[in-house]
Amino acid sequence: MTETSATMDAPQTATAKPHLPDAQTVTQVTHWTDNLFSFRVTRPRSLRFRSGEFVMIGLLGDNGKPLLRAYSIASPAWDEELEFYSIKVPDGPLTSRLQHIQPGDEIILRPKPVGTLVHDALLPGKRIWFLATGTGLAPFASLMREPETYEKYEQVIMMHTCRTVAELEYGRRLVESLKDDPLIGELVGDKLLYYPTTTREDFHHTGRVTDNLTSGKVFADLGLPAMNPAEDRAMVCGSLAFNIDVKKILEDFGLKEGANSDPQQFVVEKAFVGDGI
Ligand SMILES: Cc1cc2nc3c(=O)[nH]c(=O)nc-3n(C[C@H](O)[C@H](O)[C@H](O)COP(=O)(O)OP(=O)(O)OC[C@H]3O[C@@H](n4cnc5c(N)ncnc54)[C@H](O)[C@@H]3O)c2cc1C
Ligand SMILES: NC(=O)c1ccc[n+]([C@@H]2O[C@H](COP(=O)([O-])OP(=O)(O)OC[C@H]3O[C@@H](n4cnc5c(N)ncnc54)[C@H](OP(=O)(O)O)[C@@H]3O)[C@@H](O)[C@H]2O)c1
Repeated sequence: MTETSATMDAPQTATAKPHLPDAQTVTQVTHWTDNLFSFRVTRPRSLRFRSGEFVMIGLLGDNGKPLLRAYSIASPAWDEELEFYSIKVPDGPLTSRLQHIQPGDEIILRPKPVGTLVHDALLPGKRIWFLATGTGLAPFASLMREPETYEKYEQVIMMHTCRTVAELEYGRRLVESLKDDPLIGELVGDKLLYYPTTTREDFHHTGRVTDNLTSGKVFADLGLPAMNPAEDRAMVCGSLAFNIDVKKILEDFGLKEGANSDPQQFVVEKAFVGDGI
């Protein structure tokens, strides 16, 4: 892991550059693996969002027009800055460049948050399951730091699956930091159950989220009853294939999909569009 950061009163390299529309300044960049990094930027004063929502961010393209992509805000609604957790797609129009940002640089951030992975889209329940692969963790990095999550639910289960152990590290550190967090550590207490797994490398827990749900392994490992519509709520964020497979499993458990306009028992959002790099 490599990290670079700057305090906001440090000299800004961005001052010599043209000012971007809806510009925000990068304050910290951390590279987790060859294909994953996270970064923090200043937050527009006017930006209000619900933990779990996404915004459009980007850079100026070679044609001088904004090159924007959807990004889940990984920081909670109360944070003074905004955090993002990103893939590096080698030939990706945006991330082939975004991966080189440094503290002091500017990015474009359109202050219009939207999304379905919000508490308002779910009916009250006893437990909430956050189900993610890869960078699909990002909205849950926000929701795991959101007080409302622990006020609304007795237990919060974070299932995150990646191919390798290194790809889990951003989430692992975040979960570990919550216990001692001065703002929400007490609220989190022992409510948060973290269940990371790998599929292409040995680890203490392995296997796809889907397989660990259908086999009942995750329920046995965590000492929980099988999911049921009376008690369990879920939010899902991964590739299209993952989302489709998980949706079917949740429906087989008797849960119904909801939306902002029709709160039900689970909600789904794509972590990216497309099916291969
Ligand atoms: C609602 C929503 C929220 C999103 N939130 C995030 C986020 O928090 N973090 C993030 O990194 N990306 C997120 N994305 C994906 C993001 O919008 C871009 O696709 C990504 O930044 C790559 O941009 P690009 O221009 O480099 O490549 P693109 O041309 O956008 O993508 C090229 C290909 O790379 C693959 N790909 C793209 N994004 C990912 C990814 N995140 N994980 C695995 N494979 C991917 C796909 O196969 C895609 O076809 C989100 C997408 C949506 C729809
Ligand atoms: N060439 C490389 O070394 C390399 C490395 C990383 C990513 N990539 C490419 O990058 C893209 C995104 O990679 P990613 O790792 O973020 O996403 P991904 O390929 O979707 O895999 C992320 C995790 O989700 C699991 N998964 C995939 N589909 C699933 C489904 N339908 N149900 C349940 N679990 C599922 C995977 O398990 P499985 O391992 O069992 O598939 C893996 O553990 C992919 O297109 C991939 O080809 C390439």
